[in-house]
Amino acid sequence: MPTADDVAELVADAIQSLVTRKPTAVLGVATGSSPVPTYAALAARYRRGLLSFADARAFLLDEYIGLPAGHPQSYRAFIEDNFAALVDFPEGAVCGPDGMASDIEAACHDYEVAIADSGGIDLQLLGIGSDGHVGFNEPISSLASRTRVKSLTEQTRLDNARFFGDLDDVPHHVITQGIGTILESRHVVLIATGRSKASPVARAVEGPLAAIVPASALQLHPHATVVVDEEAAEDLTLVEYYRGTWANKPPWQRSI
Ligand code: GLP
Repeated sequence: MPTADDVAELVADAIQSLVTRKPTAVLGVATGSSPVPTYAALAARYRRGLLSFADARAFLLDEYIGLPAGHPQSYRAFIEDNFAALVDFPEGAVCGPDGMASDIEAACHDYEVAIADSGGIDLQLLGIGSDGHVGFNEPISSLASRTRVKSLTEQTRLDNARFFGDLDDVPHHVITQGIGTILESRHVVLIATGRSKASPVARAVEGPLAAIVPASALQLHPHATVVVDEEAAEDLTLVEYYRGTWANKPPWQRSI
């Protein structure tokens, strides 16, 4: 896509189409700056009466451990502020891992059960970390992993310090859906925009499948879509092939 706004509109098209054909859809929602324009596009469409989440549900990808409820940098608060509060999800329809649970391992297990009980995630949004992580599945995460505790790399803590102001305030530990969990979603959509994402995108899409680049696990998924702007596409080797397939996309195929 030419720009980050075009990326957001295309992904919003896919979500609008999903909730229109399946109003009870289950979304997997990601934090970070990459999906924010998509959430804004969805909120704009909601205000224009083009879509509704009144019967839909959503599950967060991940959460910091130890941030009290309502902490502005908790991912729960992030999704509330940037998406859920702007549309019409009913009370209790947006769930996240409980980073304040007294028994964190039980909370991870319960989260897996809640996702399964919902019927599974129809469309999972993802961003990508500078080290190729998805959710908070840092390099060398098991490609079969389930929801569990992870320790953040120093690079990820540095990357996310911009939201906290001070590196010392960035937690070391998180709960994240595992790669195995993510791969069970029926459609995975990874959003990447800007030059800083060019290297991790190329490693994920065209590099070998390897736990050192967790996002490369999407190569195993039967319906994974990577939506990039021009800058995030800069390191892709087969970029002309991708442009050609997009330009010649049959009209009978779904948008993404
Ligand atoms: C965090 C989140 C990821 C996200 C990544 C990139 O680590 N846990 O889900 O993809 O940040 O964030 P951004 O989109 O701000 O670059």
